Amino acid sequence: MIPFNKPYLHGRELVYIAQSVATGKISGDGVFTKKCHDFFETRYGFKKVLLTTSCTDALEMTALLLDIQPGDEVIAPSYTFVSTVNAFALRGAKIIFADSYSDHPNIDPNEILKLVTPKTKAIVVVHYAGIACDMDSIMKIANQYNIPVVEDAAQAVDGYYKERPLGSIGTFGTFSFHETKNIIAGEGGLLAINDERYINRAEIIREKGTNRASFFRGEVAKYGWVDIGSSFLPSDIIAAYLFAQLENLDDIQTRRKQIWQRYYDNLNKSIVNSEIKLPKVAGYSTNNAHMFYLVCSDLEQRTLLIKHLKENGVYAVFHYLSLHCSEYYQGNYAGQNLVNSDLFTDNLVRLPLFYELTNEQVDYICEKIISFLNV
Ligand SMILES: Cc1ncc(COP(=O)(O)O)c(C=O)c1O
Repeated sequence: MIPFNKPYLHGRELVYIAQSVATGKISGDGVFTKKCHDFFETRYGFKKVLLTTSCTDALEMTALLLDIQPGDEVIAPSYTFVSTVNAFALRGAKIIFADSYSDHPNIDPNEILKLVTPKTKAIVVVHYAGIACDMDSIMKIANQYNIPVVEDAAQAVDGYYKERPLGSIGTFGTFSFHETKNIIAGEGGLLAINDERYINRAEIIREKGTNRASFFRGEVAKYGWVDIGSSFLPSDIIAAYLFAQLENLDDIQTRRKQIWQRYYDNLNKSIVNSEIKLPKVAGYSTNNAHMFYLVCSDLEQRTLLIKHLKENGVYAVFHYLSLHCSEYYQGNYAGQNLVNSDLFTDNLVRLPLFYELTNEQVDYICEKIISFLNV
């Protein structure tokens, strides 16, 4: 069976883990955490970054930093992972779901504009498949109404919008290093803080509500409880694994882009006249090759395609289920129908994409898709 995803070691992960253990300090903010922080701040120019245990945690930190209160409204896409909005629901926010474009799962800024009210306290956008949202339009709305923007860049490491790194444009950017992402650490995340007014409090929230980070820098004589917070910082062992991947980011990205392009070229020739659609990349966005997906014409076709691939030893998977229709939220949802979010819920299928996927495997998967269409 060709798996959908396969976590891998690029080379130095275990060496760095051993080095981390040898330092005698494997809790958070050790040597490798600092190396990871430096990498992101230098390469992408983020004002300040903090490693977290997951993107979910980074999102939860943004909800705390923005002081989201019960009854506040937060606009977000419905076609996304639970954590994008759960972080805000945890603070009692009302989630106002906005629809995607008809030809891409990213949030449509025109839909955001319709949903802004005086209670809107945040706009959360997701760069689906690492493809940038239309950030100029989104920031225009945010600036007009003075609303902070959180970029959920879980899938968007090394992605750019008009040459600006994703995660650096809104107030905050959040990244994931879960084993299914381009750059992995098993579980792991990063918060990028682009507005320096939030830096000090972010350090406190990440350290259980204490000013321990200031203490270790020698800025205060002792540390204690100064705010609310939680334990959002990962062990340095996680950072050691992550740093070995970051050092090889260009190589990893090059290979993923080759795989993505091979899928595209193989399929483009053959399915151009079929009802199945290939992924779109907006002109203002780079493609970080996080995901290769197809959009089938309906749920039945997608079910049959997934079955056909499985019978031929290929594990392809669907993705999100519209959150406004979820078991947890549907009772609270009184908004409009979100037809595009529902369309991707039913029709989108993701193909295997991981560093070690071979060209032969890509060709084989494409052959099976084409044979399915010709039946
Ligand atoms: C858009 C999006 N946001 C957030 C997350 C959560 O990331 P993590 O697993 O690092 O908490 C995911 C996970 O896949 C995601 O796809």
